[in-house]
Amino acid sequence: MCGITGYIGNEEASPILIQTLKKLEYRGYDSAGIAVMRNGKIFVRKMKGRINSLEETLLENPLNGQSGIGHTRWATHGEPSDANSHPHTDSGGNIAIVHNGIIENYVKLKQSLQSRGVVFQSDTDTEVIVHIINYFYRSGEGALLQAVMETLKLLNGSYALAVVCSDYPDRIIAVRKDSPLIAGCGAAGSFIASDVPALLEYTRDVYFLNNGEIAVLYEDHIELRGNDGEVILRETARIDWDAGSAEKNNFPHFMLKEIFEQPKAMENALLPRLKKSALNNPVVDFDEIKLDESWAAARRIVIAACGTAYNAAVIGKYAFEHFARIPVAVDLASEYRYRNPIFDKRDIFIVISQSGETADTLAAARLMKQNGARVIAVTNAPGSTLSREADVVVYTYAGPEIAVASTKAFTSQMMCVYLLALELGRFRGHIADEPYKKYITALSAIPAQARRILDKKEIIQRFAARQYNKTKMFFMGRQFDYPVSMESALKLKEISYTHSEAFAAGELKHGPIALIDDGTLVIAFATQKELFEKMISNIREVSSRGASSLVITCDRVDSFNTITDEIFTLPKTEDCFSPLLSVIPAQLFSYYCAVQRGNDPDKPRNLAKSVTVE
Ligand code: G6P
Repeated sequence: MCGITGYIGNEEASPILIQTLKKLEYRGYDSAGIAVMRNGKIFVRKMKGRINSLEETLLENPLNGQSGIGHTRWATHGEPSDANSHPHTDSGGNIAIVHNGIIENYVKLKQSLQSRGVVFQSDTDTEVIVHIINYFYRSGEGALLQAVMETLKLLNGSYALAVVCSDYPDRIIAVRKDSPLIAGCGAAGSFIASDVPALLEYTRDVYFLNNGEIAVLYEDHIELRGNDGEVILRETARIDWDAGSAEKNNFPHFMLKEIFEQPKAMENALLPRLKKSALNNPVVDFDEIKLDESWAAARRIVIAACGTAYNAAVIGKYAFEHFARIPVAVDLASEYRYRNPIFDKRDIFIVISQSGETADTLAAARLMKQNGARVIAVTNAPGSTLSREADVVVYTYAGPEIAVASTKAFTSQMMCVYLLALELGRFRGHIADEPYKKYITALSAIPAQARRILDKKEIIQRFAARQYNKTKMFFMGRQFDYPVSMESALKLKEISYTHSEAFAAGELKHGPIALIDDGTLVIAFATQKELFEKMISNIREVSSRGASSLVITCDRVDSFNTITDEIFTLPKTEDCFSPLLSVIPAQLFSYYCAVQRGNDPDKPRNLAKSVTVE
């Protein structure tokens, strides 16, 4: 999980590499480095710490040259240190590489290289690659490309790699397997990067490399080759994302900007799927999915995902069961892939992933496919591995999400699963016309309601300023409020590093209540009207044991007034859709706690946005 970048063209490479790396910093940020070629020599500058520090050293002591490669690291093998930072070079300093991924058999390869006298400079798995390339290159296997291809045959694991060699100043060789990589050609030259936002400033025409494909970058063109070296002719894909969507604009952090983009993101997920029926009534209709006999006959829906996407999957379970009366099994993708799951071809298989690159989610999707399933992917990333491997792709259209902690991707994932559940419920005859209309009207109102919540952000900001240093923070709710509690607890721990947990409020007496004391904050979601009385009792139970509390509700504010420290009132919607709104104050709360604690909410410690390794 790192970011790699490369440039060859008619401008200075260092500033371009730094700019593109900054756009990839969300992928890892414990060290950074670049290698630049000039006059047949490779110059490396790399160090532990953020890209800003690297940029500062480069300003003091520039590296000039018009081609180079760059890396921002999230350490897996070897602690963050100058020596373990990328690029890594061979002993003579003639070849340099950057790598995102994990070489699983690196220990054996390292031993074999050491027995041939190679001295290693780092503890990384990556360094073996550059020494093997050098070995093949020097031992007369021919051109650099041939040496790279020979090297790949020895590597087990995942990689997106970029290679430069001082004998070939006119090119950069890049290749990927199970780690993302795109290549694009623009007015200033040719580029590679781990993700689209890095290149938006330079080009909109990119190749999404397939597994095993090699891109050879020249100043004025890119040559694509297959894993046997054969030339591949393919059109580039056009990216129509707005470049500003990958900038902070006037927000202090990407996370806050993305929280504020949620009304738009939900609209983007909703509007393309709202059509008019023959009678001019609004209906949900996914162009991507044609409901046919297999949907009518389906006995079960299986959903796999990780992290925040998993929480959206749990909302999906509640929504599909509520609207379509079909049982849903939800799994963490990391569990699903190893627990020998039961397959029934009549089931409907869905995976959810913002990035479309999460290793466990991809493995779950592949397992489903190996067992004959048709896989539906809900993803935000056009061109991602998942979008290319799935049989059906439902895009969330949230636009690039840069902050590590997911916000707008989550609400747009929820919007997509709600719409799918509604469409399926109607198709299977479980929703009559009147309630159907009512649901569509309620969903259509959500983006504007979300804007009203954001207008009240100061309530949450003030509450966070009072509560941020509590050592334990718990979230509780019932029914649709339970998965929202899970997502809220995840958000808080990710960026504020506060110990937080979620529990179904009915479980309070089965354990969590033992943890409640006057150092605890409990955030209670109370949006399910039938369960109001139960929630009131639960809140009394925690308040009477000294906990501070915040109630997020849409009604009966008077009932909560005397038993809680703060109430956040949501606009009224159907109970089942409340997660689309209630998660927003919880996201704001996490954000403001992180800021109060002096953390960088965009780049939380130890986390990366896209977990492309196990
Ligand atoms: C990481 C990110 C989370 C994300 C999860 C799943 O843990 O930090 O924000 O929810 O991966 O990612 P995906 O791209 O598959 O949705």
